[in-house]
Amino acid sequence: MATRVPGRVAVIRGLTRRFGERAVLDGLDLDIAPGEFIALLGRSGSGKSTLLRALAGLDGGAEGELEVTGSVAVAFQEPRLVPWKRVLANVALGLAAPDAAQRARRALAEVGLTERAGAWPLTLSGGESQRASLARALVREPGLLLLDEPFSALDALTRITVHQLVLRLWEAHRPAVLLVTHDVDEALILADRVLVLQDGKIAHEELIGAARPRHRDHPDLVSMRDRLLTALGVGSEAGTAHQTVPGGRR
Ligand SMILES: Nc1ncnc2c1ncn2[C@@H]1O[C@H](COP(=O)(O)OP(=O)(O)OP(=O)(O)O)[C@@H](O)[C@H]1O
Ligand SMILES: [Mg+2]
Repeated sequence: MATRVPGRVAVIRGLTRRFGERAVLDGLDLDIAPGEFIALLGRSGSGKSTLLRALAGLDGGAEGELEVTGSVAVAFQEPRLVPWKRVLANVALGLAAPDAAQRARRALAEVGLTERAGAWPLTLSGGESQRASLARALVREPGLLLLDEPFSALDALTRITVHQLVLRLWEAHRPAVLLVTHDVDEALILADRVLVLQDGKIAHEELIGAARPRHRDHPDLVSMRDRLLTALGVGSEAGTAHQTVPGGRR
């Protein structure tokens, strides 16, 4: 039986997920506090999406303790909009509330997509699709928002705009966020806490106190970037390039 810990939206103890012989998650512990913004880094295949699926209740095969309090919403790397429903209907999809359409309109306005409410998903740009996907997650007012590499397919300029949007939405709604990313700088710019998943456990953690908006050359971030890249097994030449984890899709 899982324990409910006051002041936590998620409590994970000894979470293990095996695929055949291999334990992809291997006794993982993690607490998520209300409203905190966590970024999760890890090499390709380290189990980040597996952890998110378990938290989202999309995978019944994990052993151990996993307690999530309140509602959870997920946005994936590819926006996964239903192509035969217009954008507004996509955002309202599955919402049981009587004012679902009104709430969906509000969420679309928040992500700057009011004009596209009646559009078909296939006519949206990549950035617009991702914003629609964020609106669909937010309209549920989740206590925990899970983002699995939602920005990785976007071009660099659009990504910066969507980062700002995510921070604005997070400040307005204050869900706890668990963001999976391959981009160390993205993690440092956005999160309160950066985790590295390795060998099935949280192998490294950095707490970031720097005020937002942050510049990547902030001295705290420069030393954290070094430590994170070392934890990820990447030689650190901090400051010379936009650093991503090997195996990332970018
Ligand atoms: N349903 C499944 N059946 C068998 N193996 C699986 C299944 N789901 C995931 N795996 C394996 O578990 C490992 C972790 O997968 P996961 O998708 O969690 O990695 P990830 O850290 O999200 O990687 P990426 O950064 O490439 O997205 C991989 O080796 C993958 O092949
Ligand atoms: Mg993944």
